[in-house]
This record gives sequence, structure tokens and C-alpha cells, in this order.
Amino acid sequence: MRMYDLIYTKKLGGALSPEQIAFWVKGAADGSIPDEQSSALLMAICWRGMSTEETLALTLVMRDSGKRLDLSSVPGLKVDKHSTGGVGDKTTLILGPIVAACGVPCPMFSGRGLGHTGGTVDKFAAIPGLKVELSEAEFIRSLAETGFANSAQTGNIAPADKKLYALRDVTATVESIPLITASIMSKKLAGGADALVLDVKCGPTAFMKTLEEARGLAQSMVDVGTAHGMQIRALITRMDAPLGWAIGNALEVMESVEILRGEHGDSELAEMSFRLAAEMLIMGGAAQTLPEAQAKVQASIQSGAAIETLRRFVALNGGDVRALDDFSLLPQAGKVVDILADRDGYITAIDGRGLGLLAMELGAGRKNQNDVLDLGVGIRVMAQVGKYVRMGDVVFRVYAKAADNIFSRLYLDTLQLTETAPPITPYLLSHIIQ
Ligand code: URA
Repeated sequence: MRMYDLIYTKKLGGALSPEQIAFWVKGAADGSIPDEQSSALLMAICWRGMSTEETLALTLVMRDSGKRLDLSSVPGLKVDKHSTGGVGDKTTLILGPIVAACGVPCPMFSGRGLGHTGGTVDKFAAIPGLKVELSEAEFIRSLAETGFANSAQTGNIAPADKKLYALRDVTATVESIPLITASIMSKKLAGGADALVLDVKCGPTAFMKTLEEARGLAQSMVDVGTAHGMQIRALITRMDAPLGWAIGNALEVMESVEILRGEHGDSELAEMSFRLAAEMLIMGGAAQTLPEAQAKVQASIQSGAAIETLRRFVALNGGDVRALDDFSLLPQAGKVVDILADRDGYITAIDGRGLGLLAMELGAGRKNQNDVLDLGVGIRVMAQVGKYVRMGDVVFRVYAKAADNIFSRLYLDTLQLTETAPPITPYLLSHIIQ
């Protein structure tokens, strides 16, 4: 078999056989196929797409490039969640403990952040002492003893994805539905969960800009999951502003803990996390209907069971539980600077990507893979889409190392203000429930 023929076939819009796809992925991972040929094929896939059969074959061979976790020693249906990512997205920290507290084991592997995106692993790392890279035995123990396990992705889960993702990152070939599907689903299938809920983000700063594209990605992942016997549901949610008030690692832990304590239960972040958790309870067999699942989610917050589950998870994995009650034990910023609105108006949009990049400049995110983060810095977003602000109102509170490099204009430029109130669209745009 020659790699040249695969590239040529895809360039003309033809289909690749499972054998050809296996030949490519194995060769890319072991280095026998040079990066320039893999890059050319990736670009051809971006333009020409892949059929469902090709996407399935690609997912399978990527899944089998490494280890598959066996979670069968933990009783019950294990339910995982994946979000295609957004600034301020800390839903894992909130829903993991809720789902576990309701009796459904919730195993999750998470990533570190890069660029404007935050990573769940970095958020958990803000809890002093908490071990965020668990061995397989530690991961299974955490799942068995607390119902919740979260760890940085180990190198031996779908290693072919690591190689191909790095190439996609530098060849502008990330935004392709079959490539995103295979990348995410190979890791999810290897992670050993029985069911998965997807939160596919849709909006100007998400991978998928339109509802049609987001539905296409969601359906593609649902098809692949279903074909492999995984129960899978997808929610498509709006992504036109940061999620919640916190951007930055320790701040995001604070916001998550507040929601688990029952504060801000009416925020959009809480509503979205509770809805995802409810879908997970249904898939895990803990509820039959959405209202029943939602009632269980609320009960886990009100009884304190959810925050208690987070405490047990943190304690078991070496973290300082006191930091969940006393936020002064979390990493702190040196300076706090308020940014004031420079005119009156209704907020119609908040550029989450822009704020993510500003948070990265403060040290909350990585410019390069090996950067060391400042876990205490970040931004409190006091502005909200739909809210009326007057000149002089505090719209952002910036937590920084030092006050001398904070330029208000850069923060104010992330806000769009108008004279008339904007229509408020619900966070949930669509869903796919098989
Ligand atoms: N996240 C992934 O893991 N893979 C993609 O391709 C895109 C987002």
C-alpha cells in the first residue's frame, strides 16, 4: 500500500477502505509515514470529508492505538461527559460530584488548557495538593470509593490522536467534523465508560459557528458512539459569552463550589450543568424521566450530598479539603483591579475568546504547551448578556500578579453595548437523544 494513493483518492473525493485508514494511522503513529504525507491527507479530509463508515473506521483504529480502560470492577453503568469547550466552562467540576452523589459512577479524563481555552485539569490543580494525574489503579479506586474520577489523559489512551492532533494544530486542519469526531470518540471509547453525554458548543467562538454545523458534529459523534454500543446523547448549547462569572483556575473552583453549595443555582452555568447531569442520571439508570432526574439533581445539592462527594474526591486524591470552605487557602492573585463601563447600554455580547486571551496574558492559560500557570489569576465577569450597565459600573474584576499591565480598553473592547435590550436566546439550542 502507498500513502500517495490514499492522498490522491481523497483529493478526488473518493472513500478510503478500513485497511487504508489503518495503514495510515499506524504509520503516522509509529513514524513510518512522514508528517508531510499525513498533513496532506488531513487537508484532503478537511475539504472532501469522510463517510460515516470511514469515520467509524478512523475512530476504531485510533481507539485501538493504545490502551482501553476496563472499569468493569466498578458496579453500575459508568457515564462520562464531553464538552467541545468554552471559556469559563467548569461544568465537569459541578456535574461530576452531582452525578456521583446520585449513585451513577462518573469517570472522566480531562485536558490541560492551551491558548484561550481553559482545561479541567488546570482547574482541579488549583485545589492545593490534589493529584490530577492518576494512575489507572488510582483512577479506578477514586471511581469505586467516591463515584467520581477525574485525571489528566494518560499518554497511552489513543496515542495516535496525540500525534494527529499535533499535526492538525499546525496545519489548520482542526475544524473538520470527521476528524473531530474520531479524535474525541476514540478517547472516549478507550476511556471505558458505558454512556456519554456531549455538550456541543455553537457560536462565533466555538469550533462550530452555526446550528447546522453543530448538529452535524453532534450527529456524527452520536452515530459513532451508537455504532460501538455506547449510549450517547448530545446537547447543543449557545456559546456567545464566557460560561459563568469566573475565568481563571482558582476562581473557577470557587464558582463551582458555590454552585454545589446551592448558591447561584439560577445562573446559566448552573442550569446547564444541572441539565447535563440530569441526562447522565437517565443514561445511568438513576431516573426514568427528565423531571425525575432534575429533582434528583436538586436534592443532591440541597441535601449537601454533591458537595460532600467533591470533598471525598478531593480528600482521597491528596487535596486540602479545607480550601473548599475557606477560599483564602486557594491560590491568590497579588492585585485586584476593577474595570468600569465607559458608557451606558445593554450588553448584547461578550467576546469569550477575547477574555480567554486576556486571562492567558495574566497567566491563567498557556501560550505554549510547557508554560507554568499562575493558578490564582483571572477575571470575574460582572457583565452579563442582556444586562443594562451605566457608565462607572464595574463590568470586570481582574485578578492579576501586578496592577501595572492592566489596560481597561482591552477589557471594555470585549463588550458589545446597544441602546435597546437584546433578545435573550435560551442556552439550549437543540438536542439529539436516541
Ligand atoms: N478536542 C479533541 O479532543 N479533539 C478535537 O479534534 C477537537 C477538540
